[in-house]
Amino acid sequence: MIYSRIMGTGSYLPENIVTNKDLEKIMDTNDQWIQDRTGIKQRHMAAEGETTVDMVEQAALRAIEASGIDAAEIDMIILGTTTPDLIFPSSACLLQERLGLPGIAAFDLNAACTSFVYSISVADQFIKSGMAKKILVCGAETLSRALDYEDRTTAVLFADGAGAIVLEASEEPGILSTHIHADGRYAHLLGADVGVSRGFKDSNNGGLKILMNGREVFKMAVRTLGQIVDETLAANNLEKSDIDWLIPHQANLRIIMATAKKLNMPMEKVIVTVDKHGNTSAASVALALDEGVRSGRVKRGDTILLEAFGGGFTWGSALIKY
Ligand code: ACO
Repeated sequence: MIYSRIMGTGSYLPENIVTNKDLEKIMDTNDQWIQDRTGIKQRHMAAEGETTVDMVEQAALRAIEASGIDAAEIDMIILGTTTPDLIFPSSACLLQERLGLPGIAAFDLNAACTSFVYSISVADQFIKSGMAKKILVCGAETLSRALDYEDRTTAVLFADGAGAIVLEASEEPGILSTHIHADGRYAHLLGADVGVSRGFKDSNNGGLKILMNGREVFKMAVRTLGQIVDETLAANNLEKSDIDWLIPHQANLRIIMATAKKLNMPMEKVIVTVDKHGNTSAASVALALDEGVRSGRVKRGDTILLEAFGGGFTWGSALIKY
């Protein structure tokens, strides 16, 4: 049996840190409200001109270095993002050029905040089928460019960053299962209301802003992530206690705590970065995974559960023997 094994992880955060107190100065919000409702204390934001591809290039180089491979061994790049540098070519193609890997397959994948988990699932199918041996899987966002500081309900949440992993074909267990879902009936509850075929609006930033019904998103996220935890455990015939680490999408500490409770997991076994990173959408699970690994908490042989929920709605999980 062929498994996809994580060889190495990497991540990158822009230098510029924006605290809740900084936001207090430019909008009607306060540190206490943001911390109480979301757990966010600060977030990183890209410098002027710094893009998704700039950030993911750094994350990818770190993941490749941690893998101990020659970049030339990589035979596919999948980049999860909702904030590509350009509409086309894909950011994965721009990254491929930066890494000097002409000829290999490279594509973006957009499943909103679930993009990285979807990308892992797609990569796993290519490896298991023998079509690829080493895949660079990334998640990266520059959501600061989509923020509307007139809308305090969304502007305090989102942020920038990038993460990456190298997956390789191995006879040793790695990814045990992935589970991905979507329900487009809820598209109106979370999204960005402009696009090419619907047209851009003749206002600041082309009319780009994030629209979100926070309460509905919250309820659906808690319910759906609870279900996907059950689905993942059942598919692998495992008990809750078999999971060593929960590495969740970092949207909101209260959503993360609800999933941990569902797993009977103490928060010490959950990798939390939302306090420092905010919600980096497609980058968030990749960033949290890298932090778990580099801090020495996630060790080889541990069973880790990655999960995410986002616009679409989309949701998914990956159970991995690290
Ligand atoms: N600062 C201060 N006050 C605020 C802010 C803010 N930034 N935003 C809203 N408020 C006020 C509201 O105006 C409202 O005031 P009112 O009672 O006088 O009318 C009050 O706070 C409560 O507002 P609600 O929107 O009802 O607050 P809620 O408790 O639902 O929390 C939140 C909002 C944090 C967005 C919550 O709904 C949530 O976490 N939802 C999940 C959304 C999420 O995580 N989205 C991320 C993208 S999806 C994903 O990644 C999973």
